[in-house]
Amino acid sequence: MKKSRITGVGHYVPDQIITNEYLSTIIDTNNEWIIERTGIEERRWFTPGKDTVTSMSLAASTLAIKRAGIANKDIDFIVFATITPDYFVPGNGVLLQRELGIQGVPALDVRNACSGFIYALSVADQFIKTGMYKTILVVGAEIQSSALDKSDAGRSSAVIFADGAGAAILQAVDQDQPGILSSHLHADGDFAEELYLKDPGSSREVRLSPEIVDNPSFKMYMNGNTVFKHAVVRFNEVILEALEANGKNKAEIDLLVPHQANLRISNYIQQKMGLPDEKVFNNIMKLGNTTAGTIPIALSEAWEQGRLKEGDLVCLAAFGSGFTWASALLTW
Ligand code: UT7
Repeated sequence: MKKSRITGVGHYVPDQIITNEYLSTIIDTNNEWIIERTGIEERRWFTPGKDTVTSMSLAASTLAIKRAGIANKDIDFIVFATITPDYFVPGNGVLLQRELGIQGVPALDVRNACSGFIYALSVADQFIKTGMYKTILVVGAEIQSSALDKSDAGRSSAVIFADGAGAAILQAVDQDQPGILSSHLHADGDFAEELYLKDPGSSREVRLSPEIVDNPSFKMYMNGNTVFKHAVVRFNEVILEALEANGKNKAEIDLLVPHQANLRISNYIQQKMGLPDEKVFNNIMKLGNTTAGTIPIALSEAWEQGRLKEGDLVCLAAFGSGFTWASALLTW
C-alpha cells in the first residue's frame, strides 16, 4: 500500500489589509479588546471585482504545484475545502479545475468549515492509499468577509474572520518515505447552530427574499463562548489521539499547526502540550481566521520560513462549525 506525502504547499492572501483601527470605525470595538481577546492585529479581506475564491485558490495552487515540481496535468484529483464557494452550485473544485486547464479531472468539495482542510487531506490520503490516485491537489480557501455581520451585534465574529487560500500537493510515495501517518475526524451535530450561517437555506418556500436578506440569518452567527469552551477540550483530545495512534509523545512534535481560531486557543493548547514557542505555528496575528484556509496557509508560510524540515513530526489540528474537529500527524 502507498503512503501520501505533502510535496508542495502554496498560499495567497488578498492585499487589502483590515486593521483593528479600521474596524473600530465601522463597529463598536477597539484595538485593545481585539488583541487581548483574539491576538489579531490585522487581517486580509478580499477586493470585490478582483479576488474570488477561485482566483485566490488558483494562485495558491499554482505555487504549490511549482514547489512540488509537477505540472497541472499531473494532478488526478482535486479536493477543495470551502464553505464560501463562488457559486451556490456547482462547488469550487470544478471552477479551480477549469482554471488549471485540466478538464476531466474529478473535483470534490468538502464543507467542513474550520476542519475542512484536515477532512479534505484525510479524504485525499485515503484515495492515495487505495491506489486510485497518485497526485492530489488539496485546497482550503474562503471569502468570509462578505458573510460577516458588520454591525455591533456581530462584532465578536466580524473581528475574527478573514479571507485567504492555501493549497497542498499530496503524492503517493513508498511506505519508508515521510508522509501522513494518520488522520482523525470527529463531528457532533448537536452543536450545529452554535456556529452557523442559516440562509439561504433550502427548506423554506422562497430561498431568498428581501426579509431574509435584511435578516441576521443571512450572516455568520457564532456563540463564541460555547465554541471556545468546546474548542479547547477537543483540540487537546484530538491531538493526543493522533499521538497515541502512532506511539508518539507530545515532546516528539516538531511543529504543531493548529487551526487559527483565536490566539488564546492556540496558546492554551501549546501550554497543555508543553511545547516551546518555536514548535507551534501561529499567523492569526496578521491573517485572522480564514476558516478552511488557515492550515494550508500556515503550512505554506512555515515552509517559506524554514520551519518545516524533512522528517519533522508535524501535527495539524482543527475545530469549528458542526461542531467538527480533526487532526493529522505526518512526517514532513
Ligand atoms: O474558527 C472556528 C471556531 N471559532 C472559534 O474557535 C472562536 C471561539 N471563540 C472566541 O474566539 C471568543 O469567544 C470570541 C473572540 C469570539 C469572543 O471573546 P470572549 O472573550 O469569549 O468574549 P465574550 O463573547 O465573552 O464577550 C465579552 C465582552 C462582552 O461584553 P459584556 O457583556 O461583558 O459587556 C461582549 O459584548 O466583550 C464584548 N465584545 C466585544 N467588545 C469589543 C464582544 N466582541 C467584542 C468586540 N469588541 N469585537
